[in-house]
Amino acid sequence: MKNVVTVILILLTTTHCGSCAKILGVFSAPGRSHYFLGSALMKALAENGHDVTMISSFGEKKPPKTKGTYRDIVVTEVLENIQEMQKQQKMNMFDRENMNPFISTVFLGYMMPKILEPTLQNKEVQELIHSNETFDVVIVEQFMNDGEKALATHFKAPLIVMSTVGTNFWINTIVGNPGPLSYIPMVMVEYSVPMTFCERLTNTLLYVFAQTFFSLVVHPNQNANIKKNIPNGPDLSDVLYNASLVLMNSHPSLNQPVPYVPNMIDIGGFHVKPSKKLPQDLQEFLDNAKDGVIYFSMGSNLKSADFPPEKRDSILRAFSKLKEQVLWKWEEDVLPGQPKNVKLSKWLPQQDILAHPNVKLFITHGGFLSTTETVYYGVPILAIPIFGDQKLNARTAMNNGFGLVLPYSEITEEKLTQSIKEILNNSKYKENAKKISENFHDRQVSPMETAIYWVEYVIRHKGAPHLRVAALDLPWYQYYLVDVIGFLVLVSAVISYISYYLVRTVCKKICNKRKSKKLKKK
Ligand SMILES: *[C@@H]1O[C@H](CO)[C@@H](O)[C@H](O)[C@H]1NC(C)=O
Ligand SMILES: *[C@@H]1O[C@H](CO)[C@@H](O)[C@H](O)[C@H]1NC(C)=O
Ligand SMILES: *[C@@H]1O[C@H](CO)[C@@H](O)[C@H](O)[C@H]1NC(C)=O
Repeated sequence: MKNVVTVILILLTTTHCGSCAKILGVFSAPGRSHYFLGSALMKALAENGHDVTMISSFGEKKPPKTKGTYRDIVVTEVLENIQEMQKQQKMNMFDRENMNPFISTVFLGYMMPKILEPTLQNKEVQELIHSNETFDVVIVEQFMNDGEKALATHFKAPLIVMSTVGTNFWINTIVGNPGPLSYIPMVMVEYSVPMTFCERLTNTLLYVFAQTFFSLVVHPNQNANIKKNIPNGPDLSDVLYNASLVLMNSHPSLNQPVPYVPNMIDIGGFHVKPSKKLPQDLQEFLDNAKDGVIYFSMGSNLKSADFPPEKRDSILRAFSKLKEQVLWKWEEDVLPGQPKNVKLSKWLPQQDILAHPNVKLFITHGGFLSTTETVYYGVPILAIPIFGDQKLNARTAMNNGFGLVLPYSEITEEKLTQSIKEILNNSKYKENAKKISENFHDRQVSPMETAIYWVEYVIRHKGAPHLRVAALDLPWYQYYLVDVIGFLVLVSAVISYISYYLVRTVCKKICNKRKSKKLKKK
């Protein structure tokens, strides 16, 4: 009997730890939506039996109960630095709406590393670095924080990069993925395909500008950061192009279909959970809205309370004349002039609201999480994009026919009413939203299962170097065949010249003969 128990115990422990791995996640970007995606993945890995350590700016309120262990390391300095910066510059996020894409690039490239640097310097992170711990894999979010990738080298683990937006030039460069500028717009611009000549020109200039800016300013800065904070830290150039895998928070139903090298894996929609029961007051509000509900939220970074009063008033006037009910994520206690059909709440369970059949329209900033969730549940959108990838997402929704875009600067009572009426009255928006939702759901396995499979794949295959494309080992002039094209141009030039020379010499000879004949005749 004792033996049987021992055998069972051994079996239990080995089945738990035979395949369980130690995984480090680094999601220090100061945006809640970024954390939300990162923690969803890390919690699912812990739930699958792995021992997870998560470095982030937020952390869980309650430690999640999972099969494996889940340890939070919370870096509070990042958020503190941002709040400090916002206070100093009196920064209202809505002011970033019309930022020039070149300036946005400099803003992101210059500010983000400054915000993220405290991650490596954080006391607990330093303790982890100086401990003897190692990991089986390190997952780092791609967000202007390339220096953090050196943690993979330090902990002797393969590196997985996660992109919380679709593919872009940061990702393409590090895995050698082709991203032709002729039809793939940079993440900062909102071009849709086909691009006009001027758009392709701007797109190309922006790419060259961003690459140059990153290699001359951002990367040296990150390299110094590594050397300063990680003992015997590797060179950035050795870690930057060494990612085993990239998990992409995208899917061809949401984004433009683009080429992927074999170690880029789409997991868009992995964070969406089956809808849960709503709190009672919301359930009643949504059930009782016989003319339908418009859900309005500007996401977690933008506060709708920061809307200037004149914009807010036009929005309120437009809402007050609708027969539909409006559910508004509003972060203050009161809203001056709140109409009867508007319900306010500081926090709303967005996914569960979008799942309710009475929700007819989602007015959103067009952030990637919101766009994904709306596609998941097939709800049309009216997008008011402000910065980052929001304009691109909004444009994609419009091109796919399940939404309209209302630029922030153009919000007036009339325009808002007109856009809302158009979406509610014209059934094509709802139909397209349903169709795209079907494309989104039609997959072999769920996106979360895909993500877990590939993380474990990288662990099983010790970094899976067989997925790496040879493009990464080529200097740029070989990759773009500049040497071959140069050679061909040179050869054509030589052949042309020789032909020209021969023709000229032959012509001269013939002419001279004729001349001498003529002379002789005289
Ligand atoms: C790490 O290991 C070394 C030798 O193996 C040991 O001297 C040192 O105390 C260990 N450090 C910690 C923090 O455990
Ligand atoms: C690059 O990745 C491989 C495979 O994961 C690993 O063996 C190697 O140590 C990594 N190099 C650096 C500099 O991190
Ligand atoms: C709604 O659509 C119908 C036709 O489908 C049209 O007659 C009506 O004027 C539209 N109403 C509004 C408010 O746009």
